[in-house]
Amino acid sequence: MEESHAARVSARPSQEKVLSLRGLELAFGSNKVLRGFDLDLYRGENVMVLGKSGSGKSVLIKCIVRLLMPTGGSIEVLGHDLLGLDQEELDHLRVRIGFLFQSSALYDSMTVEQNLRFPLRRHWMATTPGEAEALVTEMLAAVGLAHTRSLYPSELSGGMKRRIALARTLILKPEIVLYDEPTTGLDPITGKEIVELILELQKTYGTSSIIISHDLHVARLAANRIALLHEGRNYAEGTYEEFRASQDPLIQNFFIFM
Ligand SMILES: Nc1ncnc2c1ncn2[C@@H]1O[C@H](COP(=O)(O)OP(=O)(O)O)[C@@H](O)[C@H]1O
Ligand SMILES: [Mg+2]
Repeated sequence: MEESHAARVSARPSQEKVLSLRGLELAFGSNKVLRGFDLDLYRGENVMVLGKSGSGKSVLIKCIVRLLMPTGGSIEVLGHDLLGLDQEELDHLRVRIGFLFQSSALYDSMTVEQNLRFPLRRHWMATTPGEAEALVTEMLAAVGLAHTRSLYPSELSGGMKRRIALARTLILKPEIVLYDEPTTGLDPITGKEIVELILELQKTYGTSSIIISHDLHVARLAANRIALLHEGRNYAEGTYEEFRASQDPLIQNFFIFM
């Protein structure tokens, strides 16, 4: 029998909000992508934002790291008003927010080890060579790829690249991690392995996550809660079970290919 969803992901683990989006708006010319999006994320929680292709999921998480500047609304991250920060404050806060891009986005000309060291150098973390070395070793072990240290991305499979990208995101020990389509482009089995790894690492490091996806398998495996992004708003929120039981045709549409 299939293990129940509730057995794997617990209810809201904490009452402490680490992220709060209110009335978020973003338009590209006349294309109003976000039209008043609201969402809360609590410490230790995994929230999945579900939405069809082109609905604005990537735009949404780019706003949370201020790669895109919203045209309206507010974003509170770890007690800071994100949109009001100056560049230096923003740089400090960004270290606490990890971002796994839709593509793995590894540097092809660098070895796995150099890829992992890159964010440490960039953010002036782990100042001694010994500390950096220890962090690289720890993260490679955490994603089960200790033997790939001196390989180049072209020598890795798609699943391995995604694992290394995950290690590179987590090496700064972020409190919040944003995952953009973590399983897209992978076969179903490798995708499931990545989701299981995300869950395992979340337990190890106590992170809170927003996972963007159009794939409800990801929600079933990993999400405490799902928020449906539709026409720029948070159309509905619920657990995987609640979504599965819903009679709403918009929600039902996502179950068609499951
Ligand atoms: N930098 C940009 N400039 C103009 N339009 C953009 C930009 N980024 C995204 N868009 C538009 O915003 C909408 C949402 O895109 P996106 O967030 O990438 O969707 P998805 O839900 O598939 O991740 C699309 O209509 C897309 O064309
Ligand atoms: Mg996207």
